[in-house]
Amino acid sequence: MSTLEIRDLHVNVAQTDADAEPINILKGVDLTVKSGETHAIMGPNGSGKSTLSYAIAGHPKYEVTSGSITLDGEDVLEMSVDERARAGLFLAMQYPVEVPGVSMSNFLRTAATAVRGEAPKLRHWVKETKEAMTALEIDPSFAERSVNEGFSGGEKKRHEILQLDLLKPKIAILDETDSGLDVDALRVVSEGVNRYKERENGGLLLITHYTRILRYIKPDYVHVFVNGRVVESAGPELADELEENGYVRFTSAAAAG
Ligand SMILES: Nc1ncnc2c1ncn2[C@@H]1O[C@H](COP(=O)(O)OP(=O)(O)OP(=O)(O)O)[C@@H](O)[C@H]1O
Ligand SMILES: [Mg+2]
Repeated sequence: MSTLEIRDLHVNVAQTDADAEPINILKGVDLTVKSGETHAIMGPNGSGKSTLSYAIAGHPKYEVTSGSITLDGEDVLEMSVDERARAGLFLAMQYPVEVPGVSMSNFLRTAATAVRGEAPKLRHWVKETKEAMTALEIDPSFAERSVNEGFSGGEKKRHEILQLDLLKPKIAILDETDSGLDVDALRVVSEGVNRYKERENGGLLLITHYTRILRYIKPDYVHVFVNGRVVESAGPELADELEENGYVRFTSAAAAG
């Protein structure tokens, strides 16, 4: 049983021009995600959803100015990026990065070794990766390709879920993993996520713009994210209301307040 707890989190982002003042993006985020729970975060473009996921993962460009993030009571903000991964946090990025010259198979094995604290036994590892790739309908030839290099949008997303499958985190953050997937890929990817949830009893933070993925991956909670904060939390029915009416009732309230 694990708990990721975010309290009154404020985050600035460094601007590309290093002389410019950092901009305040997150303005007091409160969120608790426990093992076995699925939380969907929905909100307008630019509201800070990816910033939240980067801050949890420890991206150096994002500076936490106040508030806290803990995993089972341990201070996540004190941890380096790889310590966070070892502690059981995982982020599937909205825009997965390409790593030319590093093969997918090398990358996965190195990541699994780092997270598990020892190199997986080769025989088991080959079987494990093969099963995971088959389940996600990933062609074996991808193993020898450079990480994400030249992958289509949907192929990149599929490989994020392959990492999720192999790294078995306690809490997984999926930032728009559904964006750009065709209908069949959406099903395959969702099944991969559900398999992870069942096997590991993982906690899930699912950032999405669309309710269609929520038909496959049932959320326990839906949060509306506006202007750097969670402004409303409810059950799955909230997603349908958002699909129907958009964010106007929340954005106008945020502007007025
Ligand atoms: N380096 C930067 N310089 C200036 N502004 C930035 C920088 N990085 C992020 N921002 C701004 O922070 C805000 C939040 O961005 P973020 O990516 O977190 O939004 P989001 O909610 O994930 O949006 P989307 O739904 O489009 O993915 C945006 O207005 C963005 O332009
Ligand atoms: Mg985003």
